Amino acid sequence: MAEADLTAGCPFRETLTTAAAQSPSADVVPTLPIGEAWDMGTAADGTPLFDPRVFDSAEFFRNPYPYYRILRDHYPVYFDQLHNTYYVTRFDDVTACYFDDEGFNTIPKGSSSGVLGNTQLELSGVEHRRRRNLYGQHLVGQNLKKRVPSINRLARSMIDAWDDIEDPNTIIDANGSRTVELGRAFANEFPIRVVCEVLGFPAEAQDRFYYWYNSMMSGLGGSAAQKQGLQARQDLEDYVSSLVAERRRTPTFLHDEDGNQIGKDIITKLCETRIDGDLLSAEEVTSNIALIVAAGGETTRGAIMNLWYLLLTHPDQLADVRADDALWDAAFHETLRHSSPIGGQPRHNSHDIEMHGVTIPAGSLIQMVDFSANHDERVFADPETFNIHRPDLYSGKLLRSGYRKDGRSSHMAFGVGPHLCPGAWISHQEAVEGSRILMQRLRNPRIAMERMARDIDGETLRPMGTSGVRELWITYDRT
Ligand code: HEM
Repeated sequence: MAEADLTAGCPFRETLTTAAAQSPSADVVPTLPIGEAWDMGTAADGTPLFDPRVFDSAEFFRNPYPYYRILRDHYPVYFDQLHNTYYVTRFDDVTACYFDDEGFNTIPKGSSSGVLGNTQLELSGVEHRRRRNLYGQHLVGQNLKKRVPSINRLARSMIDAWDDIEDPNTIIDANGSRTVELGRAFANEFPIRVVCEVLGFPAEAQDRFYYWYNSMMSGLGGSAAQKQGLQARQDLEDYVSSLVAERRRTPTFLHDEDGNQIGKDIITKLCETRIDGDLLSAEEVTSNIALIVAAGGETTRGAIMNLWYLLLTHPDQLADVRADDALWDAAFHETLRHSSPIGGQPRHNSHDIEMHGVTIPAGSLIQMVDFSANHDERVFADPETFNIHRPDLYSGKLLRSGYRKDGRSSHMAFGVGPHLCPGAWISHQEAVEGSRILMQRLRNPRIAMERMARDIDGETLRPMGTSGVRELWITYDRT
């Protein structure tokens, strides 16, 4: 069967075909030194051309930023005919679209393949506001402050386990130093355990909870894994249904270090919540739980892994943070700007919209590219450089409105506007408090190069690309 011509109908068809034919391999995007983009040819006026097949290439996953730069500079609203998707890539445009909740709706119902259920992520306007207020206040402000000691306790207990000679996550090296894989030993499970505790899940359900989380996350990818995801979601709902009945009879509370009650847990709060006079159903309580867990696990894991990877590969900045504990906030936010665990968010426009001379017909799929907004040189100078001291990044109190004043801006990793991540504050606490404890415990931490994945040259570390750091092996001396 003849191969489909993916450039059919594309206005740049001729040039694309020529550029592809001239590239080292006719249909494979070459792998390039970091920071360089594949030359896709130029139009008669000198404008670089863009081949949407690059979005599916290994090179793009390895190093997307040079391609986003071409889009920002030359096609700030780009229509990719191959994937029938529009891309918005400049910081100011992404911000404006996120604030326009009526014009740009969030993903349509069913996009989580039924695994999470009907969540606020898939609602807009009034419906979204009512759902969002259900538990948002328990993840911020005083409520969050009261939970910090238990977040610390949890982090400390997980890291203390590394001292145990029997701990399966720790390798004892011949010279007495130790090596751990940060994900397995800490970052994969820590955010899930925090959420499990804050929600108010009984301790006995914790192991099952991690299984439900993993299965539901895999199920979001569709196909065979979706079946397991749906099954896990059903198991979770069965379990939550019995909890709902119990908590309606007997509310449960979170406690501080001294055993004092610090407020009802989130599950109890959800069980007491009424919308238009009706109590939430077990299905609705489950969907909220599933969303909080799914949204807070992989993301915070990614933030902790990327943060430590970036600090360990920039030893001068690691030394600065060690010397000045107050720099953790800046290190966390610069990590999210430089290498966010989330690339962007999909939206659909409710009416025809014109931006930068491109008319986007109502109902189109539009990707708001947070990765690109965070690397927009119109906002952040020298964006590819990791610099916790950069003067143009705002690292203060997180604001739903975002921050854009006096030459400083907040990053886009938590989004902005009505859908701003309600877990931003708690994930900040988890990453910063967890990292402080790690820093105290790890003497002379360094990357165990011999265990790490390599880049195409077989020498240097594999770049973070679009997927972030999957494994981070750290060797340290015992204190
Ligand atoms: C570094 C960690 C995190 C990152 C980078 C992140 C990022 C985001 C982003 C970009 C959105 C906006 C989605 C949109 O605009 O459509 C979002 C929404 C959300 N996040 Fe997070 N998140 C993180 C951690 C968490 C945590 C720890 C929780 C819960 C404990 C959480 C719960 C949620 C929920 C419930 C939503 C949906 C909000 C809505 O649609 O109104 N996130 N997150």
